[in-house]
Amino acid sequence: MDFIRSKNIFLLTRDTLKMMDNRLMKHGSRVAYILYRMMETAGGYEDFEMAEYVMLATLHDIGAYRTADLSKPLTFETKDTLPHSIYGYLFLKYLSPFEDRAKILLNHHVTFMELAEKGEKEHMEITTFLSLAECVDVYREALGEKFNVSSFRPFEGKRFSRQALDVLDKTMRNCRLFDELDSEIHEQKLNALMDSIMFTNEEKKRYMEMIMYCLDFRSHMKVFDTAVCISICSQLAGYMGLDAHTQEMLYYGALIHDIGMLSIPREIIESNRKLTDEEFNLVRGHVHLTRSILESRMEPDVMEIASRHHERYNGSGYPEGLQGKDMTEAQMILQLADSVTGMINDRPFRKGLSNDLVKDILKEDMRDKCYDPRIMKQFMAHFDQIITQAKQQGEDSLATNSLVRSRYKKLELAMNRIKKK
Ligand SMILES: [Fe+2]
Ligand SMILES: [Fe+2]
Ligand SMILES: [Fe+2]
Repeated sequence: MDFIRSKNIFLLTRDTLKMMDNRLMKHGSRVAYILYRMMETAGGYEDFEMAEYVMLATLHDIGAYRTADLSKPLTFETKDTLPHSIYGYLFLKYLSPFEDRAKILLNHHVTFMELAEKGEKEHMEITTFLSLAECVDVYREALGEKFNVSSFRPFEGKRFSRQALDVLDKTMRNCRLFDELDSEIHEQKLNALMDSIMFTNEEKKRYMEMIMYCLDFRSHMKVFDTAVCISICSQLAGYMGLDAHTQEMLYYGALIHDIGMLSIPREIIESNRKLTDEEFNLVRGHVHLTRSILESRMEPDVMEIASRHHERYNGSGYPEGLQGKDMTEAQMILQLADSVTGMINDRPFRKGLSNDLVKDILKEDMRDKCYDPRIMKQFMAHFDQIITQAKQQGEDSLATNSLVRSRYKKLELAMNRIKKK
């Protein structure tokens, strides 16, 4: 998988989440930077290890996108800390290659004393560093100039580990930590560190899929839609005889084609009323956002497949009104697959259309040459088979996603029971 560099996976993940809530991601970057500086001070970490922990720390509040009211950041970080810790843990455990370190997220608000009482051994140093880094940033944001790290010392051995507090003090003596956090320097240094991150092809694939699962933070239907769309694409690619390399590019293009939707408010995406012109234009703008977030990060061919998915063979699409001759087969396969997905799947305002109705609509589209006639011919020839298999694959991916939600509910109940004892 050479469509994206390992470092760009980090940048893409960070910027995708930034689209949803810039403030929360900035907090993630600052916490990651404090952790990075603390790891440097403590010593014993290779650059690639620090880079991996930095990526994890950047995502430490990822669960909050699902569980918290982001307009009240201090609430989920200081009072009701369990939901986002649990959801983040499950998200990383089941939907990312971080499964072996997901527990760090589960414990990032647990006190040092509780961790010690539980006999927690795994990732203790990083967990205690992250927990302290989190508090430094949250309280600095809340108290501004009045914040002083020495105010944490009385909680040594209880809320925070002595080692973490000592390492933080030493870090503060070694560098101008707060000045760096308040300027661009921290992001620049994190970006430079990420040159050392190295993922295997399998890890890259799973991270890209994790980015796709983020769509669920905006709309329950989007993950199902994407899985159905990918399946239609791969079946059509087979019937059209695309080579393996192009098929792989099409897979990644289809996987992230709607990533720009993350910047659109949930109320608009899931609205069951007619959108206003302004809202409609906002939704159409998702293709620009998909392009801008993938540009210079992803192989241009993959980026074009993704960002041209609303163009049409006859030039009636958007944003550029391109024609068939300007587009590749892979791009045009995704165009048809995405439209069919929109027809067969439920929408907030209607149920999925019947196969017969979809066929009727597509026959009309055929007359208007909305889609590449050769691709359309293959699609119509294998209609039932393609739709049945696509729906099955959609269900499978949704099952993984629902697993996170159902486990979250069980875990939350169990944790609350423990807390009450
Ligand atoms: Fe946080
Ligand atoms: Fe948190
Ligand atoms: Fe789209």
